[in-house]
Amino acid sequence: MTYVTEENLTDVVMKRWQDIDNPRLKQVMQSLIKHVHSFVRDIEPTEAEWAQAIDWLTRTGQISSEKRQEMILFSDVMGVSMLVDSINHRLPTGATPTTVEGPFHIPNSPDIANGGNMAEGAPGIPTYVVGKVRGLDGEPVPGALLDLWQTDGEGLYESQRDTSEPWMRGKFRSQGDGSYALRTVAPIGYTIPMDGPVGELVSSTNISHMRPAHIHFCVEAPGYHRVVTHLFQQGDEYIDSDVVYGVKEPLIVDFKKKSGGKTPTGETLNEPFYVVEYDFVLKKLAKAQAA
Ligand code: BEZ
Ligand code: FE
Repeated sequence: MTYVTEENLTDVVMKRWQDIDNPRLKQVMQSLIKHVHSFVRDIEPTEAEWAQAIDWLTRTGQISSEKRQEMILFSDVMGVSMLVDSINHRLPTGATPTTVEGPFHIPNSPDIANGGNMAEGAPGIPTYVVGKVRGLDGEPVPGALLDLWQTDGEGLYESQRDTSEPWMRGKFRSQGDGSYALRTVAPIGYTIPMDGPVGELVSSTNISHMRPAHIHFCVEAPGYHRVVTHLFQQGDEYIDSDVVYGVKEPLIVDFKKKSGGKTPTGETLNEPFYVVEYDFVLKKLAKAQAA
């Protein structure tokens, strides 16, 4: 029997996890032990600091519920959610990249006809989003489902509004030529929830707690990879400091300001509006995956 010393402790623990049956669990636990031991050896916490860390993690779990996931928020602000997303969606150059889904998606959004408005009665600058869904070879993808959600022009999602009706979300379909068009209002940048342990942590630094203005999209079509992503407003003051590291360059789009007049959906507006043009480019699934 080898009894422990500060020097041999990591090896002793690694050996204990050497002969377990589940190979994936063994790989995950041995890597976790190696990295956590290395972290602790690196920072050499005092016992008071370690107790503070345990207390923080305990409160992060305790504040989480069906409606609130502080653990995911922790993963988000550490950049880990984006790392997991990137590892799981390695797409070729030219395909629309993915980014984090975030906590505000609500399933079963209303179906809205092409060109329709998903921001009826919402505050904000009218915004038309138009483009095509196509494959990497340029082929149009008709019948793709575009599921959208976003904040209104005051920075609030449906779950942050006192409403029983769907708010700032909708499902659209691409047309026979792959085109889609919709009306919404411009989103604005917003803060992640700051009233919990993650907010406490971020507040004790000079790190921004803001996300730049964005519209969430989930785009899917049979035979193609499903893409969960956002489009970000170019020029937003938080574009280079997104607290959850979600901004990828190809997802930054120009919200072209128009002073009024004919809109891309054929309406005439007597007020300023934005036009956003974006083509979603999907990668075909390998034959075995598509079957
Ligand atoms: C969001 O974009 O909705 C979001 C993503 C991660 C954390 C908080 C919000
Ligand atoms: Fe969001």
